[in-house]
Amino acid sequence: MASYHYSPILFMLLTLIAQLAESRLTQETLTTAFGATSKSSANEGTKWAVLVAGSMGFGNYRHQADICHAYQILKRGGLKDENIIVFMYDDIAHNDENPRKGTIINNPKGGDVYKGVPKDYTGDSLTTLNLLAAILGNKTAIKGGSGKVVDSGPNDRIFIYYSDHGSPGVLTMPNDDDLYAKDLINTLKKKHLMGTYKNMVIYVEACEAGSLFAGLLPKDWNIYVTTASNPDESSWAVYCPGFDPSPPSEFDTCLGDLYSVAWMEDIEIHNADTETLAQQYQVVKKRTAAGGDHGSHVMEYGNMNFNAEPLSLYLGSAPNSAHKHHNKGGKGSHKPISSIAAVEQHEADILYLRRKVLRAPEGSVKRKQYEKELEDAISHREQVDCTFEEIGKAVFGDDNGIQMIKTVRSAGQPVVDDWDCFKTLVDTYKTHCGPLSTYGKKHMRAFANMCNAGVQQAQLAKVASQLCGNNFN
Ligand SMILES: *[C@@H]1O[C@H](CO)[C@@H](O)[C@H](O)[C@H]1NC(C)=O
Repeated sequence: MASYHYSPILFMLLTLIAQLAESRLTQETLTTAFGATSKSSANEGTKWAVLVAGSMGFGNYRHQADICHAYQILKRGGLKDENIIVFMYDDIAHNDENPRKGTIINNPKGGDVYKGVPKDYTGDSLTTLNLLAAILGNKTAIKGGSGKVVDSGPNDRIFIYYSDHGSPGVLTMPNDDDLYAKDLINTLKKKHLMGTYKNMVIYVEACEAGSLFAGLLPKDWNIYVTTASNPDESSWAVYCPGFDPSPPSEFDTCLGDLYSVAWMEDIEIHNADTETLAQQYQVVKKRTAAGGDHGSHVMEYGNMNFNAEPLSLYLGSAPNSAHKHHNKGGKGSHKPISSIAAVEQHEADILYLRRKVLRAPEGSVKRKQYEKELEDAISHREQVDCTFEEIGKAVFGDDNGIQMIKTVRSAGQPVVDDWDCFKTLVDTYKTHCGPLSTYGKKHMRAFANMCNAGVQQAQLAKVASQLCGNNFN
């Protein structure tokens, strides 16, 4: 710069003009980025995110992979680590079984999504209590973990994304303290009454995910939800070994979930500043349903009045360079929608065990061990299915017992009316029959239906102790 040619006063003036021009530019850029019309960026508030993987174990690799991938999208989108709260068990990247130690991938051709992910609530601190306290922004209720909470104000936007197994009325958490729909809804209600957010968007990948919100979430809380599945169906895993597209050959586990990769891979190839929540819902719905029998019905719940907002208001928007960089490889593996083969969540667990058996050398101790694990898993399923049929018959009679425990209420009705009864019956079952496995939770609807039919705890206790009392102590 040849500024010394000018007089000091002229130089100051030029600097001032330059600064003014720059600040106008920043203002314009921000306004465009936030898609706002007249408001200044200061009024737009902060973007918050809560990311939750509810599972543990290498067979459930995909759920933590989903969550890590979401973190990378938000981070590239400009959200700050102090505003992204991550709940994940964190037993995948450094798992003995991980063929790519220290990393996690969410797409057969994708890069590492683990690097940089904040470890806010891992292992034992990944609890329902901490999750609900974090959403509420209640620091004093938090036990363990980083202590990070959604300390939001009235202009802030909040994005919550959960990925794991679910069952009627319940989302699984890894420390045996599953999240009941009613408790989630009560927390959202408190947050709404506190007035500490402008709008909230919730994405849920889980089986029967619709049952968390159907008939429970009012339309006037400024909360918009989409779920991977309706209240009565499985959600689906993708990038599974032996399916197309399959993970790299060294992986025996699925890398992602259908609804989850659908929204994340969508945002990576589209402009978050122009694509709306409603548009993404349509794209994700189409891709998730594309498998027909091997796909699920993506649902939406809550307030539909703000779904014309751009995704960038929640997910941020990545600068173009980051977009291009990330899509190297990732984009190539975006198969035409129809050719993505998905696997039911519960089947993915069995698939994983089968792969481990096949990979172990024939006649080896390891192979025997895996064969035993697989046999146990299959016989456990038969046993638990049978137990619930017997319970159904004992409670409702031989003729329609099995039908009664499986009955699905009509659309728009919650799974159960009396949630205390529901919890009590689940606990009663556990007392007599032992813990409910991830697979066993598939039968949670049986307890809901018993409560809806007025079955008392004592009645279930008697039946369960007769049926299970001998095998479990
Ligand atoms: C926060 O948590 C503490 C401890 O559990 C509780 O006493 C308090 O009422 C909670 N505050 C709010 C606003 O929910």
